[in-house]
Amino acid sequence: MNPALSQFGAQMSHLTGVRAIMKDIVETLRAHAGKQFINLSAGNPLILPEVEKLWRDSTAELLASSEYGEVVCRYGSSQGYGPLIDAIANDFNRRYGLKLTEHNVLITPGSQSLYFYAANSFGGATPDQELKQIVLPLSPDYTGYGGVCLFPDALVAYKPTLDVEEQGHRFKYRPDFSQLSISETTGCVIFSRPCNPTGNVLTEDEVNKIAALAAPYDTPVLIDSAYGPPFPALNFTPMTPVFGDNILHCMSLSKAGLPGERIGIAIGKERMIKSLECFQTNLCIHPSKYGQAIAARAINSGALADISTTVIRPFYQQKFTVLESALHASMPKDLPWFLHRGEGAIFAWLWLKDLPISDWELYQKLKEVGVIVVPGSTFFPGLRQEWRHKQECLRISLTGTDEEIATGMKLLATVVEKTYQSF
Ligand SMILES: Cc1ncc(COP(=O)(O)O)c(C=O)c1O
Repeated sequence: MNPALSQFGAQMSHLTGVRAIMKDIVETLRAHAGKQFINLSAGNPLILPEVEKLWRDSTAELLASSEYGEVVCRYGSSQGYGPLIDAIANDFNRRYGLKLTEHNVLITPGSQSLYFYAANSFGGATPDQELKQIVLPLSPDYTGYGGVCLFPDALVAYKPTLDVEEQGHRFKYRPDFSQLSISETTGCVIFSRPCNPTGNVLTEDEVNKIAALAAPYDTPVLIDSAYGPPFPALNFTPMTPVFGDNILHCMSLSKAGLPGERIGIAIGKERMIKSLECFQTNLCIHPSKYGQAIAARAINSGALADISTTVIRPFYQQKFTVLESALHASMPKDLPWFLHRGEGAIFAWLWLKDLPISDWELYQKLKEVGVIVVPGSTFFPGLRQEWRHKQECLRISLTGTDEEIATGMKLLATVVEKTYQSF
């Protein structure tokens, strides 16, 4: 018999967003064990040899040092491991001219947990039983925001405006400031920059405008920099992190080669850091210290920032070029297909305007020809409005080989062409 679940228990036992699709993909692969698929669905970064070596060398150093016992045989502070907090504060102070102290940094077990702490500390039911919203100012955005709030109704996303280059088959989302509402009922604001799934990088002006809308209410603005500089530096367009009184700059070391070690980092004013730290104490006491100890070494030596710009960024940027060229070579010029500008992250985002079938149906058709991508409708958490565009997009991972990406796009073009023709 299944245990009786509470309201929160029932909610947390649902697979949200892309997790539900991933289950379908795993089942498809299992059911067709002999068949070769080009799997362009993964959000898991590839193991790049130089990056693996960095973490292996840092581990060897840690094992040989007197620090080892302190790292694995003792509990630590809820705020995170001191040497990593210092390494981050020093690195950011030097790099961006900040004045961070150890009170401005929190380490969490992956950044997903950070959004969970924030969504439920700043958003959800207030003591007066009002609902504080978690605002996503530009939808689509990271599917993982869909599951972080214990009060799902609190999640509210806004439709963007679109800059479309008809001839070039390119487009870019922009926040729609004529619609975006941030008020005393907003608990916090979250967006990813660079964005998973679209690869969009909000401009500095757009970020400052969002932060300024939230400032009068002292509403925290979480800028999810899981793909941002200085590590993993998966921005293909120049960008500088934006800091400010109500901004929580949130990072992850997952795309810098440590997804298994679960390291998230929040940088911000002490008052915000403190409330998230208390949440963390209640939840898990503190994140594991092994990953933090090796990260501190790689940040202090400068190797992590270096490898990010010399290895990680060029690797995925080149994959985007392969994908873009393959689409231009094989997609019919007269069809309304548009690739989102590839400004960062490890995905490409394709919009098929007026697609005669849903993204889910297209995903099924693509599986039949051996190509797996992710249907785009899973990336609009919190956007309740009807909008055909939600069923017209696909997320394509840049984690395939060049050949897989090129062949995958060719097959996709054939299926897409047939689909438009048949209606
Ligand atoms: C935009 C974005 N934010 C946050 C996360 C969560 O990452 P982690 O919990 O591994 O730090 C991901 C993971 O793919 C992501 O793409």
